[in-house]
Amino acid sequence: MSKENRINFSSKMAVVAAAAGSAVGLGNIWRFPYELGQYGGAAFLVLYILFVILLGIPIMLSEFAIGRSGQSDAVGSFRKIDPRGKWWLIGVMGVISAFLIMGFYSVVSGWTFEYIYQALTNQFAGKDSASLAAGFTEFSSHPYRPLLWAVLFMAISAGIVLLGVKEGIEKSTKFLMPLLFIIIIALGIRSVTLPGGIEGLTFLFHPDFSKINSSVILSAMGQAFFSLSLGMGCMITYGSYVNKKNKLTHTVAEVTVLDTLVAVLAAVAIFPAAFSLGVNPGQGPELVFITLPSVFAQLPGGQFWAVLFFILLSVAAMTSIISLLEVVVAYVTEEFKLKREPVTVAVTLAVLVFSVMSSLSFGVWKDVTIFGLTFFDLFDNATSKVLMPLGGLLISLFAGWVMPVETLRREISNAGELKLKLFNVYLFLIRYIAPLGILLVMLNF
Ligand code: PFF
Repeated sequence: MSKENRINFSSKMAVVAAAAGSAVGLGNIWRFPYELGQYGGAAFLVLYILFVILLGIPIMLSEFAIGRSGQSDAVGSFRKIDPRGKWWLIGVMGVISAFLIMGFYSVVSGWTFEYIYQALTNQFAGKDSASLAAGFTEFSSHPYRPLLWAVLFMAISAGIVLLGVKEGIEKSTKFLMPLLFIIIIALGIRSVTLPGGIEGLTFLFHPDFSKINSSVILSAMGQAFFSLSLGMGCMITYGSYVNKKNKLTHTVAEVTVLDTLVAVLAAVAIFPAAFSLGVNPGQGPELVFITLPSVFAQLPGGQFWAVLFFILLSVAAMTSIISLLEVVVAYVTEEFKLKREPVTVAVTLAVLVFSVMSSLSFGVWKDVTIFGLTFFDLFDNATSKVLMPLGGLLISLFAGWVMPVETLRREISNAGELKLKLFNVYLFLIRYIAPLGILLVMLNF
C-alpha cells in the first residue's frame, strides 16, 4: 500500500461530506421516488425506513469500522483483519457491483446533463406532462446523444478523482448540497400547493399495507442498500480514510438522517405534482424527468430554478460516482501496486462499455433482454436486489462473528475514549437481525 497515494479526510466535516456525498445522489431523487411510485406508496416508505434503521445503520457502522481498522481498500481491509479467511471475496464482489452500478448510473447522470441543457435553452416552457414524457422518450432512445452526455459526465468525474478527491468532494458537498436541500424544499412547497396536490401526500404518507408483498419488501430493502451506498465496500473504502479521532457513530447518524431526509423531501416534491398534473406515479425511471420540469414551468422564474436544480442533481450524482470510482481505483492501485492515474483512466474506459449497454437499453437494444431484463434493468436489479444485500449479509456476518468483538468495540469507541451506550443493541442487530433479515427477504421468506 503506497501511503502517499491514499487520500485522507482532514476534518470531521470532511468525512460526513464525503460519505453523505456518496449516499445522497440519484438514488434519493431519481430512484427512490420511482420505486416508491411503482411499489405502493406509503407502505413502501414504511418498509424503507424500517430497513434503514434495522439494517442500514448497523451495516454502515460495521463498514466504517472494518475500513478504519483494516486501513486498506475494500478487499485489503478484510484480509488485514482476517488474513486466513476468504472474506476478502466480499470486497471483490463489491468491486464488481461498483462497475455494474456505474454502468447504469452514468447513463442517468448523463440525462441530468441533457436536462441542464434543455433548461438553459428553455425547452420546458409551455409543455404539458404528455409532451415532456414524449420528449424524454425521444431523447433517451436516441442512439448516441445520451451516451455523449454519459461520456462527458464520466470524464469530468474521473478528472476530479485525478485532480484531488479531497478538495473536489469536500467543496462540492459542503456548499452545493445545502443548496440542493433548499431547492428541493422550495419545490416541495410549490408541489404541495398545486391543485389536487394533497392526493399525492396521501399516497406518500398514508400506508395501505395490503400493497405489501415479497417484491415490495425486496425492493425497499434493495433501495435502502443502494441509497446508503452499502453492501459493496464503498463505506469500507471511505472508512479507511477516516481519521482515528472521528466518532463513527455520529458520522453514521448524520449521513443516515441526511440521506433519508433528502429522499423523503424529493418524494414530497414529486408526488403531489404528479397527482396534480396527471402523471402516473408508477411511471418508472422517467418520473422525475417528467414531473419536475412540469413544476418548474409553474414556478415564477422557473427556468432559473430548473437550471439550478439539474446542475445540483448532477453534482449529487457526481459525488456518488466518485465514491464508486474510488472503490475500484483504490482496490486496483493498492492490490496491484499500480499508479492512480492510469488506473483511473482504464477503469473509466471500462465503465463506459457498461454505459453503452445501459444507454442502448432505451433505444436500439430495448428488446435485447437477459432474464427478461434489459441491460439497464439487469445492472440495476443485479446490484440492488442481489449483490448489495448479499454483500450486506456477509459484511454483517464478518463484523458480528469473525471480527473479534474487542476489535470492533475498540474501533467504534475510539480505543475506549467514547462511551458506547448502545453497543449491545448494535451487536444484536449485526449478529442476528441483519443477517437473518436479509436472508429471509432474499429467499422470499
Ligand atoms: N448512494 C448512491 C445514491 O443514492 O445515489 C448510489 C451509490 C453510490 C451506491 C455509491 C453505491 C455506492 F457505492
